[in-house]
Amino acid sequence: MDIYPLLKPLLFSLAPETAHNVAMKSLLLQSGFKKTDQLPPEVSPREFAGIQFRNPVGLAAGLDKNADYLDALGTLGFGFIEVGTVTPVAQDGNPKPRMFRLPENRAIINRLGFNNKGVEYLVKQVSKRCYAGVLGINIGKNKDTPEEKAIDDYLICMDAVFAHADYITANVSSPNTAGLRDLQHGELLHDLVVALKKRQQELAQQHHRQVPVFIKVAPDLDDAQVAAMSDSFNSLAIDGLIATNTTLSREAVTGQQHAEEMGGLSGGAITGLANNRLALFREKLMADIPIIGVGGIVSADDAVYKLAQGAGLVQVYSGLIYRGPELVKDILKQL
Ligand SMILES: Cc1cc2nc3c(=O)[nH]c(=O)nc-3n(C[C@H](O)[C@H](O)[C@H](O)COP(=O)(O)O)c2cc1C
Repeated sequence: MDIYPLLKPLLFSLAPETAHNVAMKSLLLQSGFKKTDQLPPEVSPREFAGIQFRNPVGLAAGLDKNADYLDALGTLGFGFIEVGTVTPVAQDGNPKPRMFRLPENRAIINRLGFNNKGVEYLVKQVSKRCYAGVLGINIGKNKDTPEEKAIDDYLICMDAVFAHADYITANVSSPNTAGLRDLQHGELLHDLVVALKKRQQELAQQHHRQVPVFIKVAPDLDDAQVAAMSDSFNSLAIDGLIATNTTLSREAVTGQQHAEEMGGLSGGAITGLANNRLALFREKLMADIPIIGVGGIVSADDAVYKLAQGAGLVQVYSGLIYRGPELVKDILKQL
């Protein structure tokens, strides 16, 4: 039974981060009665980056940063789940409050800042999972790691998660870690991707399995930046792109309560922007580099549109806060 419509008024009366914790605990309780090793429903199955997906609707990174709720989330019908962002060492993130609702647009602003329990903890959690669907692990850098050592943080995480992930995402697009987005450009991007690919090959030999590495990008890129990044991705032949993360732009929410809070904006307020950047990346990237479309999916139509724009798969996050698990069912019904 979908109890989210009953639960939502209570959740929305709480501070957003408290509501998140209550929602996750209630999901744990609810899913306790279900079998957790069930496979995701097969709806419009497809291959993407060499992986078989039973359906194209995934959970975006950031909702389950430590893989604490993987089995419970696995009962909601997602074709794949991405956990993280995880960093080498545990960190608290920014001071609270650091998450805000903008209900008019079904939007969220967050400046959590990679609060997580560290990669060792996450690996322990995913090792004992019953969840049998596709698992992505999203990796990043610690706040205190200087820019010249940033690549090391990604490699530390990659070494730790490689054996446990179906795919790995290098997150270079969170707006809440100073300097992180610089890794999206020029030499820094080139060096990062080269280092990731080299380590990926070494680990593949060691573990006798291929694990694709995707790059997750911001929506705050102008046309020239998208073109330059695409050139780089094409020449280095990345395994896949995730477009997009949250935006720093407030154009869509001017005048609303909380609009001026610092952080990344997501949800219904970024649908147009994320779709626009997705379309340009699809145009500029070689056809054999697949894209996961994320950003502003708050209805089944939004998901269908992204797939039509050339996304091979889609992910949702903010839409779940406003619509609950019914959103996933709705999208699957419409596919
Ligand atoms: C509260 C919150 C936390 C997030 N944390 C992460 C994160 O740790 N890593 C990441 O790559 N993206 C993170 N994101 C971004 C989402 O994965 C997604 O790219 C973005 O929210 C756009 O999708 P949406 O409009 O469906 O929410 C976060 C988003 C929100 C709302």
